[in-house]
Amino acid sequence: MDAITPRTPPDDPVPGATDSLIQVRGLTLRVGAAAGEVNILRGLDLGVAAGEAVGIVGPSGSGKTSLLMLLAGLERPTSGVLRVAGHDLAAMDEDALARFRRDRVGIVFQAFHLVPTMTALENVAVPLEFAGRPDAFAAAELALRAVGLGHRLAHYPGQLSGGEQQRVALARACVARPPLLLADEPTGNLDRATGAQVMELLFGLRGEAREGGRTTLLLITHDEALAARCDRQVRIEDGRIVADTGRAPRDGGPAGAPGAAAAVPDAGAGKGSRGRGGAWRG
Ligand SMILES: Nc1ncnc2c1ncn2[C@@H]1O[C@H](COP(=O)(O)OP(=O)(O)OP(=O)(O)O)[C@@H](O)[C@H]1O
Ligand SMILES: [Mg+2]
Repeated sequence: MDAITPRTPPDDPVPGATDSLIQVRGLTLRVGAAAGEVNILRGLDLGVAAGEAVGIVGPSGSGKTSLLMLLAGLERPTSGVLRVAGHDLAAMDEDALARFRRDRVGIVFQAFHLVPTMTALENVAVPLEFAGRPDAFAAAELALRAVGLGHRLAHYPGQLSGGEQQRVALARACVARPPLLLADEPTGNLDRATGAQVMELLFGLRGEAREGGRTTLLLITHDEALAARCDRQVRIEDGRIVADTGRAPRDGGPAGAPGAAAAVPDAGAGKGSRGRGGAWRG
């Protein structure tokens, strides 16, 4: 396993500290459950450069969503280094983590987590309003139109199909054009055509110039086309990274450099063209 996923010893300085958006080292997550202790993540090392698109693949129950929850500051690590956009998430209190999420992170949850008593438009606009955007509702409407939901603005989540709810969640995550977008199966409930449209929007968002750099994408997916479209694919099995087509944290070379790469069997091979969609801008 170590042969394909080189490890950095825990006492080394964090490599690439200046340009890494995500710095994870020796990350573990252990929870106590009624049925006994569960070691969900067992020592992850992952460095992600600003602007990179990373596809996270792996079997059900391997720990993908748990990693996303840690990166979003919604779950506390048991041990290890967890730095995102220069913030040491393990050392921050709940208020600081909430501000971090508001200003830095867009999240598309596997189960959407829309507010059932708010319309689609309100679900997207209200977080923007909290962040102080005077044009929150206009920007939210644009984002919903961009995911093909211009005709469902006044609908409540309970009146929307699964795929439509997923697109509302996506619009909500992307509308503020966050430096980091974390998405858990963002095309999981979509038909092929809509999935392709959402994929264009995701990568279009990434392609847009943004103050402070390009949006970094971390996409958990079983969708091979989506994983293949990413710059890099990381495979998690049983709480460990077992393959990473990108650079190892310590080699500093370009993504996919010979010697640092390991094939990710079900993630596809090629990289797609970088779509450019300006539709998110409010
Ligand atoms: N609060 C918890 N208590 C106990 N076990 C948990 C808890 N949360 C997650 N787990 C376990 O941790 C493992 C990883 O869960 P996780 O949701 O991260 O998997 P996943 O890779 O996202 O799977 P899927 O592809 O099915 O979404 C699973 O075995 C799950 O049962
Ligand atoms: Mg999951």
